[in-house]
Amino acid sequence: MCGIVGYIGDAEAASILLAGLKRLEYRGYDSAGIATLDGGLHVVKRPGKLSALEEAIAEDPPAGTVGIGHTRWATHGAPTEVNAHPHTSAAADIALIHNGIFENAEVLRAQLAEEGYTFRSETDTEVLVHLIHRLWEDGEPLEDAVARALRLVEGAYGIAVISTRDPDKIVVARHGSPLLIGVGPDGSLMAGSDAAAVVELTRDVVYLDDGDYAVLERGGYRTYRLEGVEVDRTVHQITWDLEAIEKGGYEHFMLKEIFEQPSSLEDVMRGRLLEEEGDARLGGIADHQFELGRVRRIIITACGTSWHAGLVGGYMLEELARIPVSVEYASEFRYRNPVLEEGTLVLAISQSGETADTLAALREAKRRGLTTMGIVNAVGSTIARETDFGIYLHAGPEIGVASTKAFTSQMVALALFTLFMGRRRHLSVVQGREMVHALRRLPGQVQEVLALNEELKELAGAYADARNFLYLGRGYQFPVALEGALKLKEVSYIHAEGYPAAEMKHGPIALIDENMPVVFLAPRDPVYGKVVSNIEEVKARQGRIIAVVSDDAPELAGKVDHLIRVPHTIPPLLPVLTTVPLQLLAYHAAVLRGADVDQPRNLAKSVTVE
Ligand code: G6P
Repeated sequence: MCGIVGYIGDAEAASILLAGLKRLEYRGYDSAGIATLDGGLHVVKRPGKLSALEEAIAEDPPAGTVGIGHTRWATHGAPTEVNAHPHTSAAADIALIHNGIFENAEVLRAQLAEEGYTFRSETDTEVLVHLIHRLWEDGEPLEDAVARALRLVEGAYGIAVISTRDPDKIVVARHGSPLLIGVGPDGSLMAGSDAAAVVELTRDVVYLDDGDYAVLERGGYRTYRLEGVEVDRTVHQITWDLEAIEKGGYEHFMLKEIFEQPSSLEDVMRGRLLEEEGDARLGGIADHQFELGRVRRIIITACGTSWHAGLVGGYMLEELARIPVSVEYASEFRYRNPVLEEGTLVLAISQSGETADTLAALREAKRRGLTTMGIVNAVGSTIARETDFGIYLHAGPEIGVASTKAFTSQMVALALFTLFMGRRRHLSVVQGREMVHALRRLPGQVQEVLALNEELKELAGAYADARNFLYLGRGYQFPVALEGALKLKEVSYIHAEGYPAAEMKHGPIALIDENMPVVFLAPRDPVYGKVVSNIEEVKARQGRIIAVVSDDAPELAGKVDHLIRVPHTIPPLLPVLTTVPLQLLAYHAAVLRGADVDQPRNLAKSVTVE
């Protein structure tokens, strides 16, 4: 949610900032801007996609070897040029970019306005620029004024500030929104909302903690707590390379990431399957067997697609590890007053590791003294660092805003966790081995599903004009129905609903007529026969039926309009195989409708505001 980048070094900043912003555009794309310092302050900003800013910069490149850049996902104020970041002081001596929300902005705005400050934008961010200006005493370094101002704001932020009054530095700070420093060669430094922003310059990164601020100067950086005490923050190495965040010949990141699934699934399982023991080796949780042994109940909390993975995980953990599980939207969990007794493990699932609601739910659980665990993709992210222990997905960076490979990796990570917990409880070695074998076959089976790409493109062509879609599934396939509907909505803007197949008759059945495409998830599993009956019910009402099955399904011959066959596996892992065709269906429908697949309107990849 909003991307931040900063650069200080020997090279011209504008092109480096732009390259960084391109890598961060998935975080927001309502408007973008940069500010550089070269004697004076040069600010260029444009509403709309980054390409508009790129054109403006190409026409008249702002000079300077120090600068900051921002790509916005609007919270306060429409996505206009005036609301775009950077925001500047009236004297044009301070420029600031911000990711997050200042909750007491209105109070501060009123106080500053009373003192004569004029506001140009509707943003909460502008308040902080004027506040820094107001509190900055002559001769003081910029960081002192920034720190003083930050002590007065409430809410979440990642910020970067530059000023003509103290020109050879960038001051950055974070509280609730991600921020890191990239330590480049020859004393150059970058700041970024995530590692993608800095990876062209360096693989050495320093993650700031909440409540940290840092000063980036030519040749070095210093990190402090907001109270002013200097602290040391370790340098980490980014393990993936640039190729991982480039399209590699695919038309869209979403398609690339769908096709990466055989290898991302290999990666999540690499070195973790114990064939003989029918068990999983999970380095991140192995040292916590004692705590995990005392777990009596698990609360899985997540948002969006990660919540759907959580639902699949909940079914697996209850069925195979025999642990009671509830799966909660993080945004609901954080404001309820749930009964959290001892022995409850709170498991946060997040691709980005930065989703504000998931993080808040996690912190609430910690406040109540519960053990917390994460299943996270982004290494070094806040959720990964704040949980007591966890499992990394190792799926590589996911850039497409609609999650694909992270979702299937999350389900496999949950299967590994289920194996681990199950084998220490009720799961026999034979059952464990069966699961290990099925997991081993999974990447190859996903490859087989991907071979259906052309078939799904054709199918998308037949339904790209539909106004509504219904996705129905039972048991393990119910979360797949939710995810299939979400994917279609997100990227193609066709309204879609996911529903438990049997619940259909309590409402959605009223919608069914010859214009309603209904996707049935009907692989061979214990509820297959029941789903076939539900298909009959839709058929009787002339619905157009697309059935995803896991074998020949002769019972369905003549009853459905389209049959999509995926390979068969054990029911807990079938969601991985039945999801892939739904991803492709959504992708092709979106492309055919001319939608911007990688940057769907109004969405952002990493939602770091409430
Ligand atoms: C946003 C993204 C979704 C994602 C959700 C949760 O809404 O667009 O694709 O599932 O956030 O994100 P997380 O990073 O916590 O998995």
